[in-house]
Amino acid sequence: MHYKHFPLTPPQDQLIGHRGVAALAPENTMASFRLAASQAINWIEFDVRLTKDHELIIFHDDTLERTTNGNGFVYEHNLEQLLNLDAGSWFAPHFAGESIPLFNEAFPQFLQWGLHCNIEMKFPPQPDDRHIEVLASRLCDILQSLWNPLYPLPLISSFEWKAIEWVRNKLPNFPIGFLSEDCTPLLIQQIAQIPNAALHCDYLALTPELLAQARIAKVPVLAYTVNEASVAHNLFSENVFGVFSDNPQQLRRA
Ligand code: G3P
Ligand code: MG
Repeated sequence: MHYKHFPLTPPQDQLIGHRGVAALAPENTMASFRLAASQAINWIEFDVRLTKDHELIIFHDDTLERTTNGNGFVYEHNLEQLLNLDAGSWFAPHFAGESIPLFNEAFPQFLQWGLHCNIEMKFPPQPDDRHIEVLASRLCDILQSLWNPLYPLPLISSFEWKAIEWVRNKLPNFPIGFLSEDCTPLLIQQIAQIPNAALHCDYLALTPELLAQARIAKVPVLAYTVNEASVAHNLFSENVFGVFSDNPQQLRRA
């Protein structure tokens, strides 16, 4: 499948490690990403968030309770406080001491491990424009300073489309992904007009008709989050660009 203007190649087996390998290691930690690399997973997805002191960490939730021993909103904590949290014990005792990764340290490591990256920008509920601007421009500054043309470009996505527009303005060559829980013919047509853009959609919203329309419009579609082999199989037969999974190796075997 050839995607007009889209500079990335699909994952070799079309499977993208969601938050690393979230089913087998604490999500969005180096343990999870290391496992992805050791399982020869071609692509990883991870979430980035802004700290109170405007650093970028790799973390999914708005708040700390579920996946760390901290509490409260991420954006109300400074980096130093966040780096001291345990982000592994909640998953299993032998992951105790696993910390929240700092984006600008982790990202070069991912590239060295040969991982292609989908960076998802995350925001608190109803973020103000300032938060969006600070996170997106901080991400762009880091990517610009770390960028090495030997590596594949990361794919940058968000549910917050204003943030994607920021990235497009600052880094016009980087591919972008519009995240949506829903999928409509209009949305596919809109994305088809934007160079280097993909649609990242909840697989439950993707029908064969919509995927056929995306194929005709040459819009790459990435489906989240698939943990059943039969669902993945159906999506592959519809030529999706990639499928996010918490356990790509299990799907690969199936
Ligand atoms: O980027 C795909 C998927 O990760 C979006 O949902 O909540 O898992 O970040 P979420
Ligand atoms: Mg995500």
